[in-house]
Amino acid sequence: MKYVRFDKKTVTRYNLVFIYEDKLSNLNQYGLKGRVLEDLKLDITNKLVDGKLGSMATFTSKMYDRNYFLVGLGEKSKLTIQAYEKSLNLALKRINGYNISNISLDLNNVSIKNYDHVKATIIEIEKSQYSYKKRDKSLLKECSLNVSNRIDNKKFKSTVDISIAVANGLNTARRLGDTPSNICTPTFLAKEAKKLEKLNRSLKVEVLDEKQMRTLKMGSLLSVSQGSVQPAKLVIIKYTPLKNKQPIVLVGKGITFDTGGISLKPSPNMDEMKYDMSGAGSVIGTMQACAEMNLRNNVIGILACAENMPSGVATRPGDVVTSMSGITIEILNTDAEGRLVLCDALTFSKKYKPKYILDMATLTGACLVGLGKYPSGLFSNNSSLTQKIKKSADNTGDRVWELPLYSDYFDELKTNFADIQNIGGRYGGAITAAAFLANFTKDEKWAHLDIAGTAWDSGNDKGSTGRPVKLLTDFVMTNK
Ligand code: BES
Ligand code: MN
Ligand code: ZN
Repeated sequence: MKYVRFDKKTVTRYNLVFIYEDKLSNLNQYGLKGRVLEDLKLDITNKLVDGKLGSMATFTSKMYDRNYFLVGLGEKSKLTIQAYEKSLNLALKRINGYNISNISLDLNNVSIKNYDHVKATIIEIEKSQYSYKKRDKSLLKECSLNVSNRIDNKKFKSTVDISIAVANGLNTARRLGDTPSNICTPTFLAKEAKKLEKLNRSLKVEVLDEKQMRTLKMGSLLSVSQGSVQPAKLVIIKYTPLKNKQPIVLVGKGITFDTGGISLKPSPNMDEMKYDMSGAGSVIGTMQACAEMNLRNNVIGILACAENMPSGVATRPGDVVTSMSGITIEILNTDAEGRLVLCDALTFSKKYKPKYILDMATLTGACLVGLGKYPSGLFSNNSSLTQKIKKSADNTGDRVWELPLYSDYFDELKTNFADIQNIGGRYGGAITAAAFLANFTKDEKWAHLDIAGTAWDSGNDKGSTGRPVKLLTDFVMTNK
């Protein structure tokens, strides 16, 4: 998509204008004039246009041969990031049906506190162009954006470039998530990561195979791939344009399919366990965005990739394995496999002397039960890091909610047969999972995002959301 800046000389036939239900009487602010304005007033009187959240009215000014899409944003003071994105998303879906190739959007009256609405708009437009099945391709080619004259041209251009980089990373994460597990294997993820090397010469990818992981004593990670024909891979994506600067390390859970292993999952909706690599997908997407925007910061992505299958040689409940850290683990449930691959990836990541380690994982159904599908669960052993992540969540609308890590939860992981066991008691499953990981990051500034509820949508809209790429890109951009 091409983005140009709207100026007075631009004449576009198709125009998108945001309106508020409580500001309909004050129409001048919408930039409409003369006959067009009179026509609109008539439509409002006839209640064809109401500005309600999620509504879109179309109206045509015959005299000037212009078409207007009036996208309702509800009450002006109540506008949230989520509501803005949802309204724009609905409108773009409907506009795609019109087969138009260029449109202008008036962003002047979109105001959400502390939120970059230009960036959000571009990302939402780019998202609307994604489809896993590439049929039904939209014809939209160019958008002219009418933005405040307080934004100079240089700033406008850099906002466009950054937004496109973020959106491309986000759409990459979605495509990887949506790719079925017969294609998206650990080997496939490693190849996809390798492709990033051509984007930027500061980006290098290394792939460790099972033999190399055996040498590193990653007994925990390898116990997960043990029952599968697909070999595990540990993928390291280094984006380090700066010398002598501690990197931010992003670790992603990359279970390309989670059957549960011998602790087999029930069959309903098991197909959705193709999304169990979404943490790794979000790391690939974020690394792509870093490279595309030429970010001036060091970021290292680590993907812990494996497939969790039952078989005659699969790990059994009760098996004890030794992780790379030396901590021994009793595997009481082979379906709690995410923490088993992550703990070794976390231990491995320490060699990069990270400034921060963030891990992303579709780790527990319990997180989805507890928080629903709107925020990701946030856990950390460092309060200033927690604040920084919350700030990035606010900046982007990619929401998080913090959960506690009291020592009581750690006690639930005690066992008579190893240093720790891989599951806690009946309650607070998202937290005991995070506590398990915390055992491996004691000396680091670490945070964990449980994205089990946020990484994909189910039902008719089934598909990857690309979360939390927006949060992560903001985090690496704002913590240089
Ligand atoms: N990948 C799942 C978590 C999951 C389940 C995410 C459903 C989204 C939807 C994870 O590997 C898992 O199976 N976790 C278990 C842990 C339990 C065995 C302690 C769970 O949540 O049931
Ligand atoms: Mn599982
Ligand atoms: Zn899993």
